[in-house]
Amino acid sequence: MRPLKKLLKGKTVLITAGPTREPIDAVRYISNRSSGKMGYSLATVARDNGAKVILITGPTFLPPPQGIKIIRIETASQMLKAIIKKIKKADILIMAAAVSDFTPIKKIKGKLKRTTSSLTLKLKPTPDILKIISRKRALLKKGLIKVGFAAETSSLISRANKKLRDKNLDAIIANDISRRDIGFESGYNEVYIIKKDKTVLRTKKLKKEELAKKIYDIILDKKN
Ligand code: CTP
Repeated sequence: MRPLKKLLKGKTVLITAGPTREPIDAVRYISNRSSGKMGYSLATVARDNGAKVILITGPTFLPPPQGIKIIRIETASQMLKAIIKKIKKADILIMAAAVSDFTPIKKIKGKLKRTTSSLTLKLKPTPDILKIISRKRALLKKGLIKVGFAAETSSLISRANKKLRDKNLDAIIANDISRRDIGFESGYNEVYIIKKDKTVLRTKKLKKEELAKKIYDIILDKKN
């Protein structure tokens, strides 16, 4: 395997991280569990190995990493727009963000009062960002490497493979979110890295920073 610096130097890496937030009213929102740590680790590892990094991030408590262009967004639609603006420059796109799958059809003005005994919220799906971007061929650099994540509670490999095909990805990182010791809000993760050529690699439980290095090794190594 070639050293990471050789693989990443001079490349532009576009990474999404953290959750998105879909507003219900002036104070409430729908969101996903996500600390942003995996995406931020992917960003700092790429930066440390000579890549130019653009990080499109939902709200997190993490400090902004130095030497990285940071674009802050809240909703899935804003994330899609921000990616469309920047994707032309990217050699690698990694969607580590936990994008909210649904958004309220209407945002309620002001703060909803607690007067009714029940409340029904009407939701619509958010845009499938990876699917949309994959189809915008004219906007993409030739050879763009597209990587997604799959958070699953069961049938991990088969569901991740389906997402890899549906979203036309080069690789997908599948993790089992039913485990409490890894994944969400944890500094560690243990994943399967599945490539388009059907190779599947299972990592050990690693610190997210170490895992980020492993992910680049695998997704950028043509022999793997
Ligand atoms: N993703 C996306 N746009 C969305 C939802 C997810 O681009 N609206 C991306 C995620 O960032 C991730 C990949 O798609 O890289 C898979 O996300 P996941 O939530 O596991 O899958 P979904 O496509 O949302 O399908 P489901 O929730 O039914 O499992």
